[in-house]
Amino acid sequence: MTTEPAKRHTEPVKDWTTDYDIFDAGYVKDPFPVWDELREKCPVAHTERWGGSWMPTTYEDLRKIAANIEIFSSRNPLVANVGEPTEEVMADLENQFSVGAPPISSDPPVHTWSRALLLPKFSIKEVARYEEETRELCRSLIDRFIDKGRADAAVDYAQQIPSRVIASMLGIPQERAGEFTEWVRGFLEYGLTNVDLRSGAAMQIFSFLNEQVQERKANPGDDLISYLLQAKAEGAPDPIPEPHVLGTCFLLLVAGIDTTWSSIGSAMWHLAQNPDDCKRLIDEPELITPAVEELLRAYSPVTMAREVTRDAEYNGCPMKENDKILMNFPAANRDPKKFENPDQVILDREVNPHIAFGVGIHRCAGSNLARMEMKVAIEEWLKRIPEFRLEDPEAVTWAGGQVRGPRKCAVVF
Ligand code: HEM
Repeated sequence: MTTEPAKRHTEPVKDWTTDYDIFDAGYVKDPFPVWDELREKCPVAHTERWGGSWMPTTYEDLRKIAANIEIFSSRNPLVANVGEPTEEVMADLENQFSVGAPPISSDPPVHTWSRALLLPKFSIKEVARYEEETRELCRSLIDRFIDKGRADAAVDYAQQIPSRVIASMLGIPQERAGEFTEWVRGFLEYGLTNVDLRSGAAMQIFSFLNEQVQERKANPGDDLISYLLQAKAEGAPDPIPEPHVLGTCFLLLVAGIDTTWSSIGSAMWHLAQNPDDCKRLIDEPELITPAVEELLRAYSPVTMAREVTRDAEYNGCPMKENDKILMNFPAANRDPKKFENPDQVILDREVNPHIAFGVGIHRCAGSNLARMEMKVAIEEWLKRIPEFRLEDPEAVTWAGGQVRGPRKCAVVF
């Protein structure tokens, strides 16, 4: 099987309003000035790169587009189009992926019941069941490096947390967490610009989950996979068809790992450079709740996509059927028309209606879990490592595209 990986665009961007490149190295590292420019200069930016797309950057546009589900469909939420796999791989994938990854890749009516199935398992109360084990996990990670006086806050800490928590919820042994992380990166990070990598990763995730589903059918337990196999919701088929359960489990792995790890990583990156914020969080522990919201706003990791269902003009822009729209929630959260001093991190910001978890019918179903993981990760770190700084700010690396966050972030203490 060989398909050409999408070629990287080597031409530097001359005009971000008409030719933006979401994988441009400078943009991935520091996208904020570009978003300011786009908000000033054009209603909605456009590019032909990576399969072509439109990119709104204001809070108002993001809200409006997310609300208009008839024209802006969720049928393909990936932010880049880099071609299709070979026919053979495609056939295999279609077999496995027959329903996509509901609810994120579905529109109503399927979206409505597939989301309703999930929500009870992600309530604040349900998520609290995993808090103590998440604390234990964070402590044991810190134990591994605290005596060395240095660690990579992204690799040794942030990256290790969400994969283990979701493994525990799905009833999967935590030793497999490292594999999940690699598969998810293959799908959402490296695979975004390389179709072979992406389909290979998708196949690995599906075949692994398929084994797990078969095992739970034979031996149900107190875990999310067993729950989904017998869950009921208004409007849903009874029982839920197996491909649907598989698609949803796929989503839980893919949606919960890179995202939360990136948010925790960005929070650590920020705190490493802002000792006053660390001190405030230690002296005023109740600040953690607004602080998590503010860090989510300022360093929102997730951009999703929509596909235009029919030719339509939006804000003076002639959008065509099947055009891609990049839902740049992170840029909306830095919109000065909505947030005062948007580029400042104000831990106790009083009014903070950020949309890091999206907005509208697809708003993140795992937000309570993500918030719990971020809160616990920051609290446990600061208890043991109250003072720390970046070892070399220039050596920090970032991933971008669908999910933005630090991938290497060495700190010393
Ligand atoms: C800080 C971490 C996270 C961020 C920033 C985040 C962000 C988002 C965003 C922006 C969406 C909306 C997608 C859209 O509009 O197309 C979304 C949807 C979703 N997220 Fe999260 N997410 C995070 C963590 C999680 C976790 C831990 C889980 C569960 C394990 C999860 C599960 C989901 C699901 C199931 C959806 C689809 C909801 C629907 O389509 O109705 N997310 N997330």
